[in-house]
Amino acid sequence: MISGKKLPPACRHNLILTGFMGTGKTAVGQILARRLKRRFIDTDRLVESKTGLTVSRTFELYGEKWFRLREKEAVASLADYPPGSLVVATGGGVVLSSESMESLESHGLIVLLTASPSEILKRTGKGGRPLLEGSSSNRERVISLLQNREPYYRRCNLQVDTTNKEPIQVAGIILSELRLILPGEE
Ligand code: S3P
Repeated sequence: MISGKKLPPACRHNLILTGFMGTGKTAVGQILARRLKRRFIDTDRLVESKTGLTVSRTFELYGEKWFRLREKEAVASLADYPPGSLVVATGGGVVLSSESMESLESHGLIVLLTASPSEILKRTGKGGRPLLEGSSSNRERVISLLQNREPYYRRCNLQVDTTNKEPIQVAGIILSELRLILPGEE
């Protein structure tokens, strides 16, 4: 589904995948990068290599606010690559920073991946998501975070529901949409 959001000016676009935890950003991004012959970057992995800590450990030691600052730096560093050379998977909370979103928009097309709360719970069940830990009801936590983030999602250019879909199918949908809205970028 193409949203009403205006696309960035004609230039080659990075493909940015965002969306809630467990919506498949990394798995889909890796497939797209292979298909488009582009470099794949996951901003969580950038933060981890900068800090030398896992995201969970960063939250534990320094808290969410500090993580968000590192995340913003990771997003800013994407501007060092030639526009159109990247497929990027962001952490799910990147939408909360208007600075990061502006930076992503300046060189990319932002694709929002969504999934139902049940699917999100299924896919994130293995842990490693600090925001979903320590809560008595993960379902309520997921629903409340989704509600809080809903207004921020409107900024994205394209939206794809990944519920009951394999990453390869989602990648196929994105590639078809891409051919329509940005012909010649493959
Ligand atoms: C977060 C999502 C995580 C990670 C951090 C915070 C969020 O990334 O950045 O735990 O705020 O939604 P994934 O969406 O890749 O799980």
